[in-house]
Amino acid sequence: PVRFIGNRSSGKQGYAIASACAEQGASVCLISGPVTLEAPLNVRLIKVETAQQMKQACADELNVDCVICAAAVADWQIKQTANSKLKKSNNKLPELILTETPDILSWIGQHPSRPKLVIGFAAETDSIKKNAEDKRARKNVDWILANSVIQSGKTVFNSDINEILFLSNTEVEYWDTDSKQAIAQKLVRRISNYFSDVRGYDVQKKDSI
Ligand code: PMT
Repeated sequence: PVRFIGNRSSGKQGYAIASACAEQGASVCLISGPVTLEAPLNVRLIKVETAQQMKQACADELNVDCVICAAAVADWQIKQTANSKLKKSNNKLPELILTETPDILSWIGQHPSRPKLVIGFAAETDSIKKNAEDKRARKNVDWILANSVIQSGKTVFNSDINEILFLSNTEVEYWDTDSKQAIAQKLVRRISNYFSDVRGYDVQKKDSI
């Protein structure tokens, strides 16, 4: 009831993407963990607090053309959460047993009814390209936007700017430092071009992003 495992993400990059998609006319469902940002205009917002809730919300919304996973979902959770505040006792450290959370992006990527275009992020501290490429392949993701956790000596979390290494199965492209909004707009242009190029694919047949 008092302490929890969290992360440093502010939601700025994810909210900027949701907003840019809506500005370009997409029907957008934004599934968001706890942040202090205002909901973007013309976006259906679903608020969640745990990885399980996020996975369930994604499962409920799976019938979309494109999914973009920018959330910094925890990789582990406490096996048994306490019902009352853990008290300090002399020289004895509490033992926290962790279990894995569901990997939502991987689950979506490998789902038989996966959206046509599955996009993930990778937040890395080292070997950025290699780790991101591994993630892309392992999670069956079409595009990965890799960002270094430390950029110009500052953390990417809660920053207003970002710098991206874009990876698909055929391309590696560096996106120079820019505002998170500009990165979002660039991504949306790319998504739009992708769907214009996929011959015979009717974007209208599904509801949203
Ligand atoms: O929110 P900001 O402060 O603006 O910062 C933006 C950001 C750094 C959070 C964002 O740009 C970013 O990199 N998001 C992904 C962060 C992350 O958790 O990366 P990862 O490399 O650990 O995960 C890889 C991918 O798997 C991500 O798409 C993530 O959403 C997904 N994932 C991870 C764990 C998990 N249990 N389920 C997942 O779906």
